[in-house]
Amino acid sequence: MEQARYRVHLCCGPNCTRAGSRALLPVLEAAIAAQGLTADVAVQETSCRNRCEQAPSVNVYPGPTFYNRLTPDGIRAIVRQHLRAGEPVRAWCYRTDERPRPQPRFAPPPRDTAATDESADWRWWKKGED
Ligand code: FES
Repeated sequence: MEQARYRVHLCCGPNCTRAGSRALLPVLEAAIAAQGLTADVAVQETSCRNRCEQAPSVNVYPGPTFYNRLTPDGIRAIVRQHLRAGEPVRAWCYRTDERPRPQPRFAPPPRDTAATDESADWRWWKKGED
């Protein structure tokens, strides 16, 4: 069995689906067919690619090259330039500078040293030292 030259993983996880990834599948398949690449490109729907904040996501292998925030125009550009001509499309590549800053899971407790010292009754070894 001959392996395809490229593998395209279109994320169909919950956030990419909400952002329209399933509507990109027929666009992708039509663009691949229009370029005569059907035998060279294998398309697979996948689970979450962990880049939900920039949905919809696509990975192209070998590479991988990560593409994000895709639209039908982006899909057609990737097929034309990357899958046909072998040149990744930088304009649609994953852009780390657009990632939202991670938020701390737990806010640190407020520091109030005076309150801490007054409520130190549980420190039995300190009783009677003052
Ligand atoms: S659902 Fe697509 S990257 Fe998470």
